[in-house]
Amino acid sequence: MQSHSMAKTYVILSSLFFFLEMAMAKTIPTTLDGPFKPVTRRFDRSLRQGSDDLPMDHPRLTKRVPTNFPEQIALAISSPSSMWVSWVTGDARIGSNITALDPSKIESEVWYGEESGKYPFVERGVSMVYSQLYPFEGLLNYTSAIIHHVKLQGLEARKKYYYRCGDSSLKAMSDERIFETMPPSGPTMYPHRIAVVGDLGLTGNTTTTIDHLARNDPSMILMVGDMSYANQYLTMGGKGASCYSCSFPNAPIRETYQPRWDGWGRFMEPLVSRVPMMVIEGNHEIEPQVDGITFQSYLTRFAVPLECGSSSNFYYSFDAGGVHFIMLGAYVDYNQTGAQYSWLRRDLLKVDRTVTPWLVAAWHPPWYNSYSSHYQEFECMRQEMEALLYHYGVDIVFSGHVHAYERMNRVYNYTLNPCGPVYITVGDGGNIERIDIDHADDPGKCPSKSDNMPEFGGVCHLNFSSGPAKGKFCWDEQPEWSAFRESSFGMGY
Ligand SMILES: *[C@@H]1O[C@H](CO)[C@@H](O)[C@H](O)[C@H]1NC(C)=O
Ligand SMILES: *[C@@H]1O[C@H](CO)[C@@H](O)[C@H](O)[C@H]1NC(C)=O
Ligand SMILES: *[C@@H]1O[C@H](CO)[C@@H](O)[C@H](O)[C@H]1NC(C)=O
Ligand SMILES: *[C@@H]1O[C@H](CO)[C@@H](O)[C@H](O)[C@H]1NC(C)=O
Ligand SMILES: *[C@@H]1O[C@H](CO)[C@@H](O)[C@H](O)[C@H]1NC(C)=O
Ligand SMILES: *[C@@H]1O[C@H](CO)[C@@H](O)[C@H](O)[C@H]1NC(C)=O
Repeated sequence: MQSHSMAKTYVILSSLFFFLEMAMAKTIPTTLDGPFKPVTRRFDRSLRQGSDDLPMDHPRLTKRVPTNFPEQIALAISSPSSMWVSWVTGDARIGSNITALDPSKIESEVWYGEESGKYPFVERGVSMVYSQLYPFEGLLNYTSAIIHHVKLQGLEARKKYYYRCGDSSLKAMSDERIFETMPPSGPTMYPHRIAVVGDLGLTGNTTTTIDHLARNDPSMILMVGDMSYANQYLTMGGKGASCYSCSFPNAPIRETYQPRWDGWGRFMEPLVSRVPMMVIEGNHEIEPQVDGITFQSYLTRFAVPLECGSSSNFYYSFDAGGVHFIMLGAYVDYNQTGAQYSWLRRDLLKVDRTVTPWLVAAWHPPWYNSYSSHYQEFECMRQEMEALLYHYGVDIVFSGHVHAYERMNRVYNYTLNPCGPVYITVGDGGNIERIDIDHADDPGKCPSKSDNMPEFGGVCHLNFSSGPAKGKFCWDEQPEWSAFRESSFGMGY
């Protein structure tokens, strides 16, 4: 497991070669040496494909502070000179006939400065709650604890800040935390190390991934969607399912056990209260509830940059040193006629490659994927958006969704193209649904057209129009656009 994920670490490194200051990277081939001959590292069937979720009473998931004190503290970059600090206070409620907490009863303050123990600056923010309500007999409702977001502004680049958050009037402040801001936007300075992880969940395998990730001391984390997997549970809690529909065939709606989100926030806190994490929504964040309302936990818990002109938390962009990151929403309108597409066009037009030479995009479901799982599932999104990203010369695209690793050769419109992006799937953080091991080109493993239905948007499955798979839905060997694939849990740098 360790050696598998390290092999993967190096492979991603080879694509990020230029913006990593690591001597060892010099021996690693770059995409200039490509396209590479397809390689598959098959799953070792003597290993287990997954593990159970950590229980709610696991020490890393239990609440350890008194009611009004901050917990689940997390950071997110807003701009090179501003940082979001988010946390939770109070107690979530679950049951019947519950009423929501009043978020105006407690302040949202962050005290901070450049020296440990001294906090000359204070910034105030907003607090909110959300509910997850199910109008079905026997299902329990949930109202969240109070979720706070404060934006620290006017920060200097590449500098350490010490902070405490909470409500000083109640003397309910966190202990001191520390973070470092990103380098200024510009072509010569880059974050020391960027971790990329997806489809994380909260299992024993997740623990291995996150502990490994933390030991490698990243400067920021790109989280490509599917976080807590709270929707693998019924509202009563109990045991999480590795397959929701097989375990709960009679559930009236896709239920969730929202306390898993609180457990996940606690599990992540030691890492993300010092390293900013940039998230994008996955299908496990949809979480439908009463009146067709969706995404309440995602929208309320995570703060994202607003400086980029996006008016939606579902897609946004930001800079970190010489990299411009674009995070796209696959579960909101991605059509050329929609608001996301017009925002994306405006954002790409503004990118100055002399300031941010690297253009990196991320969204949850991959466009290029040769595993059977989710094969061609988001083909409509590719057909709508690929030409625009290609036109502006996106370098790398990260996705998750498929629970395995795959790195593509540079590709455009399913044809090898030295100016196309390198696509990388890293949906293998460790979640309860287990690792994906079948390839669409394995004998008998080509999915039928009804197998992979997107949870949002249309179905645009296609048969290839040229090459060895001409006229067919699946290749009968690893496609030339797939450079390397491996079924193992892990993350990339
Ligand atoms: C997941 O964790 C289990 C239990 O620790 C382990 O046996 C298994 O090898 C791990 N799976 C993978 C794919 O790493
Ligand atoms: C949960 O909330 C819904 C919507 O308000 C309501 O219809 C339902 O009765 C509530 N359920 C319980 C158990 O209180
Ligand atoms: C629901 O809560 C309200 C206010 O907390 C209370 O007045 C009412 O009696 C409760 N209803 C039931 C069915 O418990
Ligand atoms: C986007 O366009 C497709 C057809 O190209 C359509 O099926 C889908 O409903 C549209 N989605 C939205 C959100 O408008
Ligand atoms: C992509 O390839 C398909 C099939 O060969 C072709 O019909 C389509 O026009 C191409 N799209 C672009 C944007 O080149
Ligand atoms: C697409 O390919 C499948 C087999 O991969 C074949 O059964 C089907 O007829 C093809 N469809 C078209 C329109 O060629």
